[in-house]
Amino acid sequence: MNYNKHLDDETLEKMQNILKFKQKKSITDIDLRNKTVLVRVDFNVPLNDYRQITDARRIRFTLPTLFYLHNENCKIVVISHLGRPGGKKDERFNLLPVYKRLKEFFPLTTVYRAKDCIGPEVEQMVKKLNPGEILLLENPRFHPGEKANDPEFARQLAKLADIYINDAFATSHRKHASTYGVTEYFKESGYGFLVEKELKFFSQALSNPRRPFTVILGGKKVKDKLDVIKYLIGVADNIIIGGGMAYTFLSAKGYNVGKSVIDVSKLDDVRSYLHESNLNGTKIYLPVDVVVCDELDDPTHVEEVPITTIQENHMGVDIGSETIKLFKDVLKDSKQVIWQGPLGVFEKEDFENGTKEIARFLIENKIYSIICGGDSAAAFEKFGFQDNISFISTGGGASLALMKGELLPGIECLSDKEEVEFTIVNTIAQKGIQR
Ligand code: 3PG
Repeated sequence: MNYNKHLDDETLEKMQNILKFKQKKSITDIDLRNKTVLVRVDFNVPLNDYRQITDARRIRFTLPTLFYLHNENCKIVVISHLGRPGGKKDERFNLLPVYKRLKEFFPLTTVYRAKDCIGPEVEQMVKKLNPGEILLLENPRFHPGEKANDPEFARQLAKLADIYINDAFATSHRKHASTYGVTEYFKESGYGFLVEKELKFFSQALSNPRRPFTVILGGKKVKDKLDVIKYLIGVADNIIIGGGMAYTFLSAKGYNVGKSVIDVSKLDDVRSYLHESNLNGTKIYLPVDVVVCDELDDPTHVEEVPITTIQENHMGVDIGSETIKLFKDVLKDSKQVIWQGPLGVFEKEDFENGTKEIARFLIENKIYSIICGGDSAAAFEKFGFQDNISFISTGGGASLALMKGELLPGIECLSDKEEVEFTIVNTIAQKGIQR
């Protein structure tokens, strides 16, 4: 098979989009010494019923940036959303659990917590900060201006600091005030170390993929992933579809999927993508057998069946053993994998097998793999595989946006590097001479 794909100009251009982040200033391109810095992070961490953090990776991974700012003697003002409180104050979404955990990471530094993210009281707290100290602001999504990217709200936020750093990779696809609009009011802004690491992995994988390049898409929501599939047809060599979304695909192909959840509104789109993939040299692989049960919470009946014999009163909850073989066969030759969304209801031990087997296969065969989305990351953590895979991204929606060939607004709005401006000026000058 020839894997030197001939891509049209529009696709090639989109594939290079992600590289534009290199034109932007990074945290090390800015003189931060003794400055007050507003750092946007994504501390949107999973919480249990007691509001305890069940996975602190998103906090841990910002530590290189926060330590760096601390060492630069900065006053560090940290801002993050948590959940979706809908533009009004709602204590179920306050940042108290995050504050408690953040303090544990800084035993020798004072970490303060503000009751809001804008206003005179917050401004006073910032003023009183000593160099190296941290102030965690309250959830900006308590204000309608955050999601609306309201300029006045953005200006109020920007009043708090001299410099803006975005280290919230997982929220960089949002055009909100604290991720986008706020940069209008800063002379200088750049990205932090977490964003840099994420973009380095994704840019290598998406702008110049190692081939064969296989994408695994699972999870429940077909809607979120259709645009990704549309873009990846032609770009990826293989697309493997599993998890909840596979049933919409199977239904579109005319199989009875019983009680499995499908997105009826997307059946026509799915049919057209299946057709298009045939013409564009990207192979789409679907399950050939599945594990079904009668009830998810308390099943009395669980069995593995071919996709041709799913009963009306059964629902698919995992991929079957023939499918695992088929998917492994595709993966064994792959030089690069991006995986978003689990292949079954991995949270339940009875239905974790497909996701676990494929994860183990990638690790054992040392296949270069990027894992994205909260559920996939949680699956790797559950199996204890998190330290054995090439890279686990902190992004869900943000990585999907990159996989559609989009540039992230939260990166696009940052200051350009001076050298880039210089290079462009030079190129223009040279062209002028040539003419
Ligand atoms: C995420 O968890 O994907 C990010 O924190 C973004 O959250 P949002 O989808 O609520 O904007």
